[in-house]
Amino acid sequence: MRRQCVPLAATGTELISERPAAEMLHRKLCVRLLLIYFTAVGIFMTSSWFFSSYPRSFPPQNASLCACDKCIMDFEPGLSGLFNKTPELFLSTKNNISEKIFNWWRRLQPEWRSFSAYQTTVKKVFQIFPPSPQLTEPSPDRCRTCAVVGNSGILNGSHYGPLIDFHDIVIRMNRGPTKGYERDVGTKTTHHVMYPHSSFNLDNITRLVLFPYKTSDLEWLIKSLTPREKPDNKPGLEANKDLVMILNPAFMRYVHHVWLKKKGMYPSTGFLTLILSLHMCDEVDVFGFGADRSGNWNHYFEPLAVEELKTGNHPGNDEYKIIQRLQRLKKIRFLRGW
Ligand code: C5P
Repeated sequence: MRRQCVPLAATGTELISERPAAEMLHRKLCVRLLLIYFTAVGIFMTSSWFFSSYPRSFPPQNASLCACDKCIMDFEPGLSGLFNKTPELFLSTKNNISEKIFNWWRRLQPEWRSFSAYQTTVKKVFQIFPPSPQLTEPSPDRCRTCAVVGNSGILNGSHYGPLIDFHDIVIRMNRGPTKGYERDVGTKTTHHVMYPHSSFNLDNITRLVLFPYKTSDLEWLIKSLTPREKPDNKPGLEANKDLVMILNPAFMRYVHHVWLKKKGMYPSTGFLTLILSLHMCDEVDVFGFGADRSGNWNHYFEPLAVEELKTGNHPGNDEYKIIQRLQRLKKIRFLRGW
């Protein structure tokens, strides 16, 4: 007959001594089995808690995330908490921002437009521009390499041109030209980041990435790329309207709050672009970031206009420290020129 394990509490010690040796042995075995069972359950519970406390966007260690030697999304304890709150990178018909985010965003470059005026403008935008951005999704068979090219004077004489052009994605920004600077900055541009005051004519195959700081920036986009609205029937800006992408204001807030801990008025175009690239690429090389000896954000393509420019409204030193930290953690390669 099969014996069953009886709870210990049901047996008095005085009775145990009267039981036959075989039964005692059976009880000892039951106690050991129970101990092993509870230990195993304990270990399982602890480990599942441990894994569930990983940031959602960092997958389990050793999982193959991309085909590069090292992928940006490989787990890095020093950066946990920075990647797991990422909102959608770009505006689309499917995702828009909440009124709370709008109220944060409207303070960056104040203008008197309501949330409903913003929403109406966004609707108009997506009647003209692609309803969702074209992105290359991550895959274990792919290694998406990115060069992020800032506008620093440290690019002068760097000879980085061929290295920059070697990347799949080359992101340039604002008024940073290639013509006349090919040896140091390259010739290839797949994405060009801009806002109305830094607008730049593009060829037909480069993606225009608008960083909007207010509702009228979205209206500017419509006006600049819509031929009908110009008297000479030409758009104000040369660019392929089917390749337009618009940064999500929620992403700007995420970079300011989560990465920069609210330092400075708001992140610089370059820093926003760099963090954006960490979410678009598996490997990121950073060029053209760094102030001159006096701490000014000078440009490789023009002499410094204002001696006291420094880093403008932006927390340049804090941004620079984060760039250096990402370099130390081998998340990016930071190429500073020679
Ligand atoms: O000056 P501009 O905003 O066009 O430069 C683009 C970006 O390049 C800046 O937002 C900044 O992040 C970076 N930059 C830099 N050092 C410079 C000039 C620009 O880090 N000397």
